Amino acid sequence: MAKVLYPGSFDPIHLGHLDVVEQALDLFGHVVVCTMHNPSKPSGQFALDERLAMIDEVVEPLRRLGTVDVVSFAGLAVDAARSNGVDFIVKGLRTGGDFEVEQQMAQTNFVAAGVRTVYLPCKPSLVFISSRFIREIAQYGGDVSAMVPPSVLGHLERASGRS
Ligand code: PNS
Repeated sequence: MAKVLYPGSFDPIHLGHLDVVEQALDLFGHVVVCTMHNPSKPSGQFALDERLAMIDEVVEPLRRLGTVDVVSFAGLAVDAARSNGVDFIVKGLRTGGDFEVEQQMAQTNFVAAGVRTVYLPCKPSLVFISSRFIREIAQYGGDVSAMVPPSVLGHLERASGRS
């Protein structure tokens, strides 16, 4: 068993992310889900506190499989890994495009700080899901119920002023 860090923007968390948490729990037993700011993205829709609350709600049923901690961190993923005492980082891969980006980050994180990254392939039925498109669709009142857990729908409706 191992303790692993799953870092991401989670703006908002969706079913693809939850699949990665479930796989990581199954394989490693202890997952620290860590919401972070992605410097290459604009400030985001949800504040870190709201992302934390959403994640905490949706991972609750997965706690039957192992230990899940939910944290936020301002700074580098490798420093989040160190301060949470994890063995390595896990990332989900949807497409070849994800691989290009993740491989560069993983190699940089290893060379700069000795922190390793393990990739988990996303479930094929979920690979199209992205937080960006969920935010866009929800802002215009579209239906994203096939992409996010039910409790996240309420947050999206409130954020778009529809409830
Ligand atoms: O969900 P995302 O947006 O793909 O997550 C990306 C994230 C937040 C994990 C990535 O941007 C990150 O690691 N941010 C922390 C800053 C950092 O460590 N930068 C150095 C990367 S080599």
